[in-house]
Amino acid sequence: MFNKYLIPDAQNLPEGKALNITVEKYNFLVTKQQGQILAYENLCPHQKKQLNWSSDPALDEEGDYLKCHHHGALFSPLDGTCITGPCQGSHLKKATVGIEQGNCYLLFA
Ligand code: FES
Repeated sequence: MFNKYLIPDAQNLPEGKALNITVEKYNFLVTKQQGQILAYENLCPHQKKQLNWSSDPALDEEGDYLKCHHHGALFSPLDGTCITGPCQGSHLKKATVGIEQGNCYLLFA
């Protein structure tokens, strides 16, 4: 059985952009890539810190990668793989996203 949490305004998220949402004690990065809404736990595998601060978008300057602002690790927004940085080869933890009646939800077991 899943609990579901609405991701506010996910439908209006521009392609290649990211936003943060907090659910219970967890923070997530939500991004739209190739028309798909993807979500990752906002926790860098390097030192288990949030990738970004407050409203910082957690993207690199070009908006191509999710970026950890502590030590510069870059992650593929499509699958969360660290492509360069101190945790290269590791992954952000992907969260399950569901769509119901046009709304996007984070799903938790
Ligand atoms: S904590 Fe993210 S790169 Fe070091």
